[in-house]
Amino acid sequence: MAYSEKVIDHYENPRNVGGFDKNDPSIATGMVGAPACGDVMKLQLKIDKNGIIEDAKFKTYGCGSAIASSSLVTEWVKGKSIDEASTISNMDIAEELALPPVKIHCSILAEDAIKAAVADYKSRQV
Ligand code: FES
Ligand code: FES
Repeated sequence: MAYSEKVIDHYENPRNVGGFDKNDPSIATGMVGAPACGDVMKLQLKIDKNGIIEDAKFKTYGCGSAIASSSLVTEWVKGKSIDEASTISNMDIAEELALPPVKIHCSILAEDAIKAAVADYKSRQV
């Protein structure tokens, strides 16, 4: 199976790898795992007081497609509201990266990571 050029680019030059201090109240953290393969993805969003995502970072322990999917979403979510970011679907990611069917769950991991981070943010609003 050949990876697409976009997957290889994100895999070799991942954007926004790292993390933020999870005790910072502007940081939302989404941590998800893929039961199918055991891969784990952590996505953190820095959200301003208007609900706009200022910055994003990720750490993914997984395959090239999972790393590429998370790298891509850190780029996509910046500047979006949390509601806009929540509409990013795994099909958008899979299409952009030209993922083959066996790697679709890697893009689902990235979608789930966004949703988990947004849920974390909402759970901490009073
Ligand atoms: Fe887990 Fe992809 S199967 S690395
Ligand atoms: Fe499991 Fe990519 S996340 S193979």
